[in-house]
Amino acid sequence: MAKKKNKKNKPTLTAASADRHDLYLKSVQEPSFEVEFFDRVYGDHVGGKPKLLREDFCGTAAVCCEWVKAGDERTAVGVDLDPDPIEWGKANLMNKLSDAQRERIIFLEDDVRNLNGHKADVVAAQNFSFYCFHDRKVLLEYFQAAHANLTDKGVFVLDMMGGSECFQDESVETTNKAGFKYVWELDHFDPITHRCLYHIHFKFKDGTKLPNAFTYDWRLWTLPEVRELLLEAGFSEAVVYWEGADEDGEGNGEFEPAEHGDADPSWICYVVGVK
Ligand SMILES: C[S@@+](CC[C@H](N)C(=O)[O-])C[C@H]1O[C@@H](n2cnc3c(N)ncnc32)[C@H](O)[C@@H]1O
Repeated sequence: MAKKKNKKNKPTLTAASADRHDLYLKSVQEPSFEVEFFDRVYGDHVGGKPKLLREDFCGTAAVCCEWVKAGDERTAVGVDLDPDPIEWGKANLMNKLSDAQRERIIFLEDDVRNLNGHKADVVAAQNFSFYCFHDRKVLLEYFQAAHANLTDKGVFVLDMMGGSECFQDESVETTNKAGFKYVWELDHFDPITHRCLYHIHFKFKDGTKLPNAFTYDWRLWTLPEVRELLLEAGFSEAVVYWEGADEDGEGNGEFEPAEHGDADPSWICYVVGVK
């Protein structure tokens, strides 16, 4: 008979015992949802099943790990400038894969604007990571590189956030998680440049905190700008997948192609560049 876990003996998470990458993953990532979505949009626009994923701004490469688990023919390339999350992903996520799955992931410690010879079926940039590019010229260079990093037919999947709640000087949103609180703070928004500064903090039951566990110095790009730049970079279409709403008006996690949307004060969506 399986032993019942004694919750009382579970150590309480504190700032000293917590791991910021683990908390990040539990707070803002859902790799299986992403992989399902990539499959779906590839099917919508190209047809069939994609094999090679390039995960730009991969961080811990949680999505690469989920990708290779989803089929023996699947390979993934994770690209990030920072060796720290990559090493964490190797030690804490890749170690849970089989040898065969692990061998199907390649890490590149590189700038996402570089070409590296791996032509992917899907190039993905999640959690608004491309907002780190502040200038139109630089974002166009990145979109051109993503286009070149795809095979002849493929999809480039971005996610975006926006809405009037982003256009404030400051705001704090706290979400309860198992054993900790996830805090998303807007520190500053400049309406002239659209530059914005966000922080992620974590708080624990014993009163300890991990302040500024992650900080993002972003430009809040708008959907029309991004769609126009994708077309300028060579994509044949730039399709917005907008989230539907439940009976309370909250996002229902179902994203469908749309040309128009409601002015939700805080929205997220996907944008798919089709090659
Ligand atoms: C917001 S995290 C995203 C992590 C993960 N993809 C996710 O969905 O949560 C952004 C990552 O982008 C990386 N990064 C920032 N600029 C980059 C660049 N020009 N080229 C490659 N990686 C970059 C950072 O090191 C960081 O790991």
